[in-house]
Amino acid sequence: MSKQFDVIVIGAGPGGYIAAIRAAQLGFNVACIDEWKTADGKPAPGGTCTNVGCIPSKALLQSSEYYEHAGKHFGEHGISLSNLKMDVAKMIGRKDQVVKQNNDGILYLFKKNKVTYFNGRGSFVKAVDGGYEIAVAGDKPETLTASQVIVATGSNARPLPGVAFDEETILSNDGALRIGAVPKKLGVIGSGVIGLEMGSVWRRVGADVTVLEGLPTFLGAVDEQIAKEAKKALDKQGLKIELGVKVGEVKTSKKGKDIQVSVAYTNAKGEAQTLEVDKLIVSIGRVPNTNGLNPEAVGLKLDERGAIVVDDDCKTNLPGVWAVGDVVRGPMLAHKAEEEGVAVAERIAGQHGHVDFNLVPWVIYTSPEIAWVGKTEQQLKEAGVKYKAGTFPFMANGRARALGDTTGMVKFLADAATDEILGVHIVGPMASELIAEACVAMAFRASSEDIARICHAHPSLSESTKEAALAVDKRTLNF
Ligand code: FAD
Ligand code: NAI
Repeated sequence: MSKQFDVIVIGAGPGGYIAAIRAAQLGFNVACIDEWKTADGKPAPGGTCTNVGCIPSKALLQSSEYYEHAGKHFGEHGISLSNLKMDVAKMIGRKDQVVKQNNDGILYLFKKNKVTYFNGRGSFVKAVDGGYEIAVAGDKPETLTASQVIVATGSNARPLPGVAFDEETILSNDGALRIGAVPKKLGVIGSGVIGLEMGSVWRRVGADVTVLEGLPTFLGAVDEQIAKEAKKALDKQGLKIELGVKVGEVKTSKKGKDIQVSVAYTNAKGEAQTLEVDKLIVSIGRVPNTNGLNPEAVGLKLDERGAIVVDDDCKTNLPGVWAVGDVVRGPMLAHKAEEEGVAVAERIAGQHGHVDFNLVPWVIYTSPEIAWVGKTEQQLKEAGVKYKAGTFPFMANGRARALGDTTGMVKFLADAATDEILGVHIVGPMASELIAEACVAMAFRASSEDIARICHAHPSLSESTKEAALAVDKRTLNF
């Protein structure tokens, strides 16, 4: 006997669980199906983000940053420590607890909002009169039907061709977040977001980390000036990043009790090289996931990358079937998935859900943090847009000096004629938090003059945002 719902959401990552909650808030009877389980078999909603992505990576970044501060920077404050140690098992255990708090939080939210949660794999069975039949395979198999289905099945790590993840030696994000002891030598393929964040974690706690990047430019999507500043800081910290390499054969071999990985590659000068490491993280992007969804059963259209084809409103080729998050086009970011989830739930309710893709901020949680929203200087140049730029260095900010973290800058790009803010780029302390002001300003189509005229608390890092806005008009007060 099939259970009838108004809306079925497949996937409880940030796209799916938020869509389910919003749909329930709007008065629909909602089911949310997710197959993730903990190692000991407990349901673990939250998707990649909660289980092996945003949340655990930030927990490890925090722990490793404290360790680095204690070892390298506490002395400046007159604090001396002896016998400083890193207990990796404890750090990983804390990270697991943080993940669990988030899993439990989502289970609580489902209850609070009366979303019916099914732990198992959801797949299309067939189209039925006025909707779709979805099978749930798991400990308790079920059949559900609804007229509206939201697919939010996320993404998986992309392996190097012919090099499977074993999560012990060749690691995706999953294995990279649960290495049991600090590897002496760690290799990372890809200096994208995961490579830099995970490379930073393990370098801070003592690994000798080498990152091999295929492209000749560092963080090509980031504003060039900001990327250059970030690279300088990461180089200084000892993260070895080789750009413009071509990765060849990856071999694992036994050395006594240990396993060694050797990566053959050609460097930017065309010379053949070999990198020998104890563990290798492969972070070369992610692929949309529709494993087990059985899209063929209903004729749901995928593109050549395996992403579900959607229009600007997240509508698929099938009436009543929507798709959001990493499984569709656009940046693979948790907050983008969430915004799409909310917008789809509202569209199902006949409202005008809206996502502005130009206002999706990016943050890379290295130290210094890198954050931006809107256009980069190179994008504006390419598009022939006339702009004014203003920058302000954290070196000239009192709070940054007090914190002992003066790396980086805030950069504003504004339209030359109207002064409307077109992009804000930050490399430096708490860039992840500072970028919110830029998002708000740009959502209200503010000018740089608007920000320059707003009273910002002193002393605060956010004064650098105001000063960068003043710099657009060449009238910084503190630099
Ligand atoms: P997912 O979070 O992948 O969730 C999909 C869910 O669907 C999973 O639980 C999966 O098990 C389930 N599922 C799939 N198929 C089925 C099926 N057939 N039946 C039932 N369930 C199914 N983004 C940020 O914005 N900020 C960050 O700091 C950040 N850090 C990251 C760090 C790492 C290491 C990684 C890997 C990613 C990070 N991301 C970050 C990206 C972010 O995790 C994703 O963009 C986000 O999780 C996408 O959400 P989603 O809901 O589309 O999919
Ligand atoms: P990515 O797309 O950020 O970076 C992949 C890097 O690998 C690129 O620089 C690419 O040029 C390089 N590359 C690709 N193939 C290669 C090869 N064969 N050899 C050498 N280099 C190669 O992908 P990543 O880091 O795997 O992360 C996936 C996604 O997860 C991100 O794009 C982002 O959407 C999301 N994410 C977001 C985070 C955040 O918001 N802070 C943190 C981590 C992940």
